[in-house]
Amino acid sequence: MSAIKAANTIIDSSSGEETNTQDFIEDLIGKMTLSEKIGQMTQYDASWDVTGPPVQKDDIDRYEKIAEGRVGAMLNILGTEATREAQKIAVENSRLGIPLLFGYDVVHGYKTMFPIPIADACSWDLTHIENATRIAATEATAAGLNWAFAPMMDISRDARWGRVMEGAGEDPYLVSKVSAARVKGFQGEDLSKPDTMAATAKHFAAYGFLNAALEYNTTEISDNTFLNQVLPPFKAAIDAGVSTVMNAFSDFNGIPVTANSYLQRDILKKELGFKGFIITDYSTISEMVVHQYAKDNKDAAYKAIIAGTDMDMESRVYENNLEALVNEGAVEEKMIDDAVRRILTLKLNLGLFDDPYRYCDESRSYLLDHVEDHHSKALEAAKSSAVLLKNDKNLLPIRKSVKTIGVIGKLADDKDAPLGSWRARTEAQSGVSILEGLQKHVPSETEILFAKGYTLSVEPPTFTQEVDLSQSDDESGFTEALEVAERSDLVLFVLGEECFQTGEGRSQTFIGLKGAQLKLLKKVYAINKNVVAIMMNGRPIAEPWLYENIPSILESWYLGSQSGNAIAELLTGKCNPSGKLALSIPRSIGQIPISYNHTRTGRPDPIPGDPNFVFWSHYSDCDKTPQYAFGHGLSYTTFEYSNLKLNTDTISMDESLTVSIEVENTGSYDGEEVVQLYINDLYSSTIRPVKELKGFEKLHFKAGEKKTVTFTIGWKDLAFYGADRIFKAEPGEFDVMVGGNSEDLLSARFELTA
Ligand code: GLC
Repeated sequence: MSAIKAANTIIDSSSGEETNTQDFIEDLIGKMTLSEKIGQMTQYDASWDVTGPPVQKDDIDRYEKIAEGRVGAMLNILGTEATREAQKIAVENSRLGIPLLFGYDVVHGYKTMFPIPIADACSWDLTHIENATRIAATEATAAGLNWAFAPMMDISRDARWGRVMEGAGEDPYLVSKVSAARVKGFQGEDLSKPDTMAATAKHFAAYGFLNAALEYNTTEISDNTFLNQVLPPFKAAIDAGVSTVMNAFSDFNGIPVTANSYLQRDILKKELGFKGFIITDYSTISEMVVHQYAKDNKDAAYKAIIAGTDMDMESRVYENNLEALVNEGAVEEKMIDDAVRRILTLKLNLGLFDDPYRYCDESRSYLLDHVEDHHSKALEAAKSSAVLLKNDKNLLPIRKSVKTIGVIGKLADDKDAPLGSWRARTEAQSGVSILEGLQKHVPSETEILFAKGYTLSVEPPTFTQEVDLSQSDDESGFTEALEVAERSDLVLFVLGEECFQTGEGRSQTFIGLKGAQLKLLKKVYAINKNVVAIMMNGRPIAEPWLYENIPSILESWYLGSQSGNAIAELLTGKCNPSGKLALSIPRSIGQIPISYNHTRTGRPDPIPGDPNFVFWSHYSDCDKTPQYAFGHGLSYTTFEYSNLKLNTDTISMDESLTVSIEVENTGSYDGEEVVQLYINDLYSSTIRPVKELKGFEKLHFKAGEKKTVTFTIGWKDLAFYGADRIFKAEPGEFDVMVGGNSEDLLSARFELTA
């Protein structure tokens, strides 16, 4: 009997029969041969998109393997027709008819592009983030997919790393909240609904701690940092019900993650109680031989299954070696059964045994055309994600007196860069450029001049090729740009990076402005002081001259399909900026790794009275603070914080503290503010960060409006993993701090008693 028929018999809800779906799975496992079980643990790349070095040439007949029951999932296969064809072979031609999973990198949208994840995180707007992910899932499931390889939740403090664009920044609390929102967006309330899909928490673990941020490099991380910084987002994703976890390319304490029992079995599956399955990252099992950790593929297969790796993405090592290992008695079949049980449970939860074609529904393909509602939500998300870093002369919003605007920069006219690097199946060049947005939103009587000014890559860059910046020192566009600057009341200078300078495989040793951009900016500023810089980048850019001289700066990252419209609405004041940095912007690459939640050290400050004394924690050649701090972001209005109050100055372990503060919009614009709460543990058994985000609220204030904002703090907000690796709070004194960023804070002290 096929798995589908069996499922319908056992779990057919119409019969009203109360059944144990686990019986169905155990019954199915009981029918499976060892080869079919290993087939469920094998994922083939269909290579419609290339997201890694395919281990196998495409001479193998994937469909033959599916018919043999040797494939449980595919990736990078797209469209309801192709997925239906593959599913049909699995369901109708293989002996047990077990349906396939179809996975894909749905990272910041599928057809409608939303802001890149780091930008989305800067919105601090969990509703926007969940809605954006919901739309991505709606579109991706209309293309036959039922599994997203997202959200990525790697904590990172290193702008040299290309994938800093893909996460949610440097802080475990914010990354936890954002990741949980993304999991809910993908999975919805019912995973068996045709517009919901499995989510993936990745990359487990510590992939953001690569040495020197060199892609695929080894990692160095303390137990303390791993447990207290890296782990919390994965726990949040598991608590949110994430279906799968993808492991990392890197090693952890000298053992590749794929073979790391401490990480995958002790921590993930036991300590955090993860009941889903672990998928490898692209061919990580076979790469353990290259890593010089496994003697050969058979050794790699052994080490991976022992460490709890459940599914092999594309390396085929499980397919070609696990059966022999079990038959030799080297691997117990119950280990295989555990992996298969986890995989089949997801297929059951997705409703695939009930209807294996529910995601291959051609009637939903209209969702892949331009859906107005999707683009309006993408516009809202984009407006909420940009961060106003500086506005010294209030050049923004653009004044009515400005009659001629000079737009300078190749990126201003770029319809491709705003789409970001993990752009799934959106059409190239389909983004709204800044120039197009301005032409739509500035008053018709305003003249808009444009000059490209500088060059970055000559050809539009691609996902798999290095960006060619060989022409970026070209100055032939300077003359035209300087003429534009001369004639303009206001210059909007758009600068940053090509979008494929960030993303996977894009580590850089330089995090300033490449090519001739800065040289031109200085010349323009020498002619016209009314310059607004609009940044388009995937990593924080370290460029002190820019930040210290240009009066207004909007950090826009890559804002997706509606980028140009969002930026134009922000620049014209139709929308008031409300983003806050989800990661620090360094003054210099020399400060990296840098984050706000650093520890105090034993010599944190200068010695009073002796400014030349060198024995304190500082650089001789650079201020040790960031250019812009975590949580920083301005508005066209101003907010005043006052009256920080605690309901008590002492709480016991089972009590909670109520913190309230008054926030007033003291300016003339309505606006949104992210009220942030931090704590500092004044004395603890292991050194703790000088401050840790433990709460935030993004609220709307009318001009002149005042609100009282309250937070509740309990022992779990004060707890941490100590040297004994036990998560607990310790009695003692704490400071609680509240403000609109991580630096300007009102503070109050309280005590936690045993
Ligand atoms: C890539 C990425 C991973 C992605 C996978 C499948 O190498 O590291 O994040 O999900 O392969 O495309």
